[in-house]
Amino acid sequence: MKIAIIGAAGQVGRRLARRLIEHGDDVTGLFRRPEQAEVVTAAGATPHVFDLTVSTPEDLAQALRGHDAVVFCAGAHGTGMDQTSLIDGKGVEKAIIAADAAMVRRTILVSAMPEAASGREVSEDFAHYLTVKKEAEQVLAGSGLDWLIVRPGHLTDDDGNGRVRAGLAEPYGQIQRDDVAAFLLEVLHEPRLSRHIIELVDGPSTIPEAVDTLVELYGTPHL
Ligand SMILES: NC(=O)c1ccc[n+]([C@@H]2O[C@H](COP(=O)([O-])OP(=O)(O)OC[C@H]3O[C@@H](n4cnc5c(N)ncnc54)[C@H](OP(=O)(O)O)[C@@H]3O)[C@@H](O)[C@H]2O)c1
Repeated sequence: MKIAIIGAAGQVGRRLARRLIEHGDDVTGLFRRPEQAEVVTAAGATPHVFDLTVSTPEDLAQALRGHDAVVFCAGAHGTGMDQTSLIDGKGVEKAIIAADAAMVRRTILVSAMPEAASGREVSEDFAHYLTVKKEAEQVLAGSGLDWLIVRPGHLTDDDGNGRVRAGLAEPYGQIQRDDVAAFLLEVLHEPRLSRHIIELVDGPSTIPEAVDTLVELYGTPHL
């Protein structure tokens, strides 16, 4: 498959790029700072400089044309509410318009579990982040794309163990970025899993087992 990653220099994005390349896919890695090119090329992806906050949906559509799927894993990573709105919110909306215009039907969004805030005091910034993530989900879920939303729990940089718990409603927990990348690789190659929001945390099932179960329970049978 030919896959575009928006946020390819990020911690999840670079891991996903590496896994897709190892799997034999063709990957375009979109990132915003020219000095990040090395990270993207080291993963084996084709680098493409692209700033979500300044480029237009038409620019993005141009970059996405000819791809089979796009994965959005960019994020403002705590740089302020305005940036969160621009990247995690408007950036996703821009990607949806662009994917549609470029006829890239398969669109996967890395979002966040709403429970990240439950049972504890959170900053205004964090509450805003979760609101923006949810609003972006709503826009994608209302689109005509072949979408999938993946909501990981709290991300860690520990080595992946290849085991997860994945479902429509899972208890909040943590998950290694490595395992998020491995899960994204698997669902990118599973067309029967479409138009669902999947919550993902560390757990007992291997990733192929978890994806098989999701397909069994919620997969589109005719594909
Ligand atoms: N941290 C958690 O526990 C957690 C939990 C659940 C979900 N998530 C979500 O998971 C996703 C991936 O997380 P991560 O840890 O991989 O994040 P990350 O390492 O911060 O990667 C995000 C990437 O997005 C890029 N980006 C930011 N603004 C951009 C723009 N205007 N144009 C293009 N690229 C831009 C960043 O580039 P710069 O380096 O230039 O800023 C960075 O490379 C994010 O959407 C995050 O919100 C995180």
